[in-house]
Amino acid sequence: MGKIHVIAHRGASADAPENTLPAIDLAVDHGADFVEIDVRRTLDGELVVIHDSTLQRTTDVLRLYPGRARYDVAGFTLAEIRSLDAGSWFGPAFAGERVPTLREVLAALAGRAGLLLEVKDPGSAPGIAADLRSVLDAADWLEDAPAGRLVVQSADWTFVKEFHFLLPEVPVGLLGGPPPPQEIDGAAGWAYCINPKNTKVTAGLVRRVHGGGMVLWPYTVDNPRRMRELIAMGVDGVITNRPALLAEVLAGSARRRFTWLGRLWQISKASR
Ligand code: G3P
Ligand code: CA
Repeated sequence: MGKIHVIAHRGASADAPENTLPAIDLAVDHGADFVEIDVRRTLDGELVVIHDSTLQRTTDVLRLYPGRARYDVAGFTLAEIRSLDAGSWFGPAFAGERVPTLREVLAALAGRAGLLLEVKDPGSAPGIAADLRSVLDAADWLEDAPAGRLVVQSADWTFVKEFHFLLPEVPVGLLGGPPPPQEIDGAAGWAYCINPKNTKVTAGLVRRVHGGGMVLWPYTVDNPRRMRELIAMGVDGVITNRPALLAEVLAGSARRRFTWLGRLWQISKASR
């Protein structure tokens, strides 16, 4: 069994506003091997890190820009989006936090943890794969792109395949589903990981994914009992809002394994 990765969903998003720099820093402090973020494109073509297609839930856009017909990320410029407060909705301690650009996140994470980068709704942002390539390249994230540093995923599997053909050196993941068995087998030659909702995971699915030489990272699990069940099924990582909790669960499993192996060794020694 390889190392089971701690993957912080939107950063340490149980303890800091999702997809912000404090959530990302905290995720690293809490032992994340990877930080998962969501990427969208602004009206003027900049890549920003935000989950929803619209700005209302996680910013004060309604206060700053009342009366707009729509509040889509894709309908606002970077300057407008940067003027928003993306922290107060979560708590006063985070007042004034900004929606980060992808560039900022790459700089904040470099050399500290891997990045699981989800491209949201790529179908509504034609050319976003090439934009992504430019930003990753300018930030030196494409050099020796090993699987431990960067994985690009999307629920749009056609996009994932296109992205793979554009940048075959970057590991890619199929998010959601899971794909039917034949599609999993077909992805074996080009995908790095299959990332389904945790309730869809079975030991059989894990075996099938492993049979294709891929890894399986289920989302989003904050319950320690479910974390343990998934670990027992053989998953390779867990996507969680609580990376510190998952790190604790993994340390507990490792301790139990060690004690159990120690006992076995003592029994075999006594019977010699
Ligand atoms: O990485 C898995 C997860 O992020 C998918 O769901 O909606 O949180 O982006 P969502
Ligand atoms: Ca996501």
